[in-house]
Amino acid sequence: MSYAIIHAKDQVFHPVTELVDIQGVTTASLIGPEQGSVHLEIALVEIAPGGVMPGHIHPFEESFFVLAGRALFALNETSYLMNPQDFGVAPISAPHAWHNPFDKPLRMYQVRGPQPRLNNLMPSAYAVNTVAVPKDGRAINEFDPTCRYVGHFSETDMPHPGPLSMPGYHGHNIRDISIRMMVDDILGAQHHTLFVVEFAANSGTPGRAARTHYHPFEEAYYFLSGSATAFLDGEQHPIEAGDLVWSSTNGTHGYINQGDVPVRFIECQAPKPPSSHAFFFPDDWHAFSDGMHKIEAKSDARFGPDEKQ
Ligand SMILES: [Fe+2]
Repeated sequence: MSYAIIHAKDQVFHPVTELVDIQGVTTASLIGPEQGSVHLEIALVEIAPGGVMPGHIHPFEESFFVLAGRALFALNETSYLMNPQDFGVAPISAPHAWHNPFDKPLRMYQVRGPQPRLNNLMPSAYAVNTVAVPKDGRAINEFDPTCRYVGHFSETDMPHPGPLSMPGYHGHNIRDISIRMMVDDILGAQHHTLFVVEFAANSGTPGRAARTHYHPFEEAYYFLSGSATAFLDGEQHPIEAGDLVWSSTNGTHGYINQGDVPVRFIECQAPKPPSSHAFFFPDDWHAFSDGMHKIEAKSDARFGPDEKQ
């Protein structure tokens, strides 16, 4: 199987035991080797009131997007107050720690890349005392050049919907889309990306969609609001807010928003896309067929009602 769908109702939290002194931290594993991934580990993480994740480092990048609640995040020499829709990345070997001194749990969407090695081969977190458990933190200010590896997503950040333009692809096969990059090489990540995607509502113009395509990297989409029809390896699936879809390298995927409200999700890619030829659309290649190939391959790409078949 080159894709996985993890529905919200199937996301079960378990205590995190990566470090000896962890208190009040739980995680719901969403994507990893069990689902077929070789580049990613994705989870929801909760830090309960009073919860602490003491100082540690990883041999991988760890990015996050705060879904609800507040907590303090110490990274290198700076501590930040993380609020809903804040995001950040702990680069490889950067010491960091978490503390929730507030009265509500913090919930965040967490992505690790490159994929951690199996626990029986290598620990995923190494305790360090070069960063203390934070007792306070500064608010994120993206205009402050000393505010590094973190940022904040605002509703006003979303550009008007249009054709997709991002590293590795520009064109009309994916349209009526808005993207707000969060985690990339500018923020400090080398191995994966994290960004907000929104497809416009279907306001009478059909085909507000990403035509079916595949990549030389893995992608995952955590749906925040709205609903969509996903086309995964030629099969259709309804996707709702709270669901996560993962697509492997070369796994075909496409989305249509047939609802009357925008659909929004957090997307990640790992490894980072190449600067060109990052997207491949099977129907475009079939359209160029001269009929001379020995195997009459059938495209597994399928689109909305206004798209060519
Ligand atoms: Fe894609």
